[in-house]
Amino acid sequence: MSISKILQEPTLGSIITVKGWIRSFRSNKFIAINDGSCLANLQCVVDFENEDENELKRITTGACVAVTGVLTESQGKGQSVEIIVQSFDILGDAPVEEYPLQPKKHSLEFLREIAHLRPRSKTFGAVFRIRHALSFAIHDYFNKEGFFNWHSPIITGSDAEGAGEMFRVTTLPHGTDQESSKDFFGKETHLTVSGQLEGELGAMGLGKIYTFGPTFRAENSNTTRHLAEFWMIEPEMAFYDLEMNIDLAEDFLKRTIKYVLDNCRADLEFLDKRFMDEQKTKPQNERSEQGLIEKLEFVVSNDFVRLSYNEAIEILRNCKPNKKKKFKYLINEWGADLQSEHERYLVEKHFKAPVVLFDYPANIKAFYMRLNEDEKTVRAMDILFPGIGEIVGGSQREERYDVLKQKVTDVGIPEEELWWYLETRKFGTCVHSGFGLGFERLVLFATGMGNIRDVIPFPRAPKSANF
Ligand code: 4AD
Ligand code: MG
Repeated sequence: MSISKILQEPTLGSIITVKGWIRSFRSNKFIAINDGSCLANLQCVVDFENEDENELKRITTGACVAVTGVLTESQGKGQSVEIIVQSFDILGDAPVEEYPLQPKKHSLEFLREIAHLRPRSKTFGAVFRIRHALSFAIHDYFNKEGFFNWHSPIITGSDAEGAGEMFRVTTLPHGTDQESSKDFFGKETHLTVSGQLEGELGAMGLGKIYTFGPTFRAENSNTTRHLAEFWMIEPEMAFYDLEMNIDLAEDFLKRTIKYVLDNCRADLEFLDKRFMDEQKTKPQNERSEQGLIEKLEFVVSNDFVRLSYNEAIEILRNCKPNKKKKFKYLINEWGADLQSEHERYLVEKHFKAPVVLFDYPANIKAFYMRLNEDEKTVRAMDILFPGIGEIVGGSQREERYDVLKQKVTDVGIPEEELWWYLETRKFGTCVHSGFGLGFERLVLFATGMGNIRDVIPFPRAPKSANF
């Protein structure tokens, strides 16, 4: 039986068997077992006087064990029930001198080096259970709202974002100059950077779809917010304009975060404490004023601030850090791309709330976004979160065939690469919109962790693809 189930519905007096990994062994008597089903350990009390000495020696941190005994009300503090052990069986030893995950505080950097064992730690157990809960809540949300889960391909022949940050997929021998016509697919192919373009094709038939898949970016960004392999959720909706798109994104974020608040209490409380301890180690001006749970509740119950790029530029141009030249990139004129320092200023200092920015200059955004009547800006939107920066990027799509075709030509994409995309504008086109949510950025926000490499089991980043 799982520990989570035992603690939820304890059947006192019954004989039960628990299997898990030993977290600690105290006074030759108390084994704390964790099986990953929940944050809590189950205390198992062994009658050491009547046990074989050699077997007792095998009860070490990290060993895998099966314990059978009577579930009893606990005499001690810190737990309500415990098992009075009748028999135990060491399923897998963990030699003390070698096992790296001892019951003491390890740094996250060290745990990253032992990513094969870190799912057994308290912090990563909590993080990965919340990651699961968010994934479940996302599928649940879209299913309830009438969306269909759509599987965009992972190997593609086009660059969806036009940013040229793609990993090649090839079976040609290493170091040859053979033409791509000789390659497996008879052309150049890559790992996808986004499932959006194929997602749009789905929406233009099924109405409302969403993808939830891995995406890959070969950008050389060694930051706490970027991965080379990350998971993205991309809904795409026929007949939605930009405003409906923003409404959906806001509701979606609130309800998935609410799900975690309602269903992951123990893990959140643990991570909240960890988050607050972490804040204390930071300089005063970088500390979060709110605790983790407080932060999540705030997002769930307050309207996101919505403002245009024009308005944002005005605020940034006149703000203190810009005037005192504290920004690395100073904001001088309209058209500047916003860096994360600017986004964070707006969210964390100016509004102290999630912010939705829309109507960006066309030339700093992707080719598929709907051109506004001013012919300078596009119907783009980014959602910025405290402590995270950009969490969602989306837009209303250019649905006019001629305008889109011209744009594709202008940015230099060969038409034969995207003929199928253009055809949806030729045949039965309609207003439509969508967005992309970076899943790990949402997990980062919901867990209060500081580095995106600590919210995915096996992170991929420049010069790092272990495990
Ligand atoms: O803003 P991006 O590049 O937008 C797209 O890919 C669109 N096709 C989405 C759409 O409209 N369907 O990426 C979307 C989100 C970002 O807001 C960010 O949360 C996340 O994906 N993201 C990353 N997350 C982790 N590591 C990276 N390297 C990321 N790049 C983007
Ligand atoms: Mg973006």
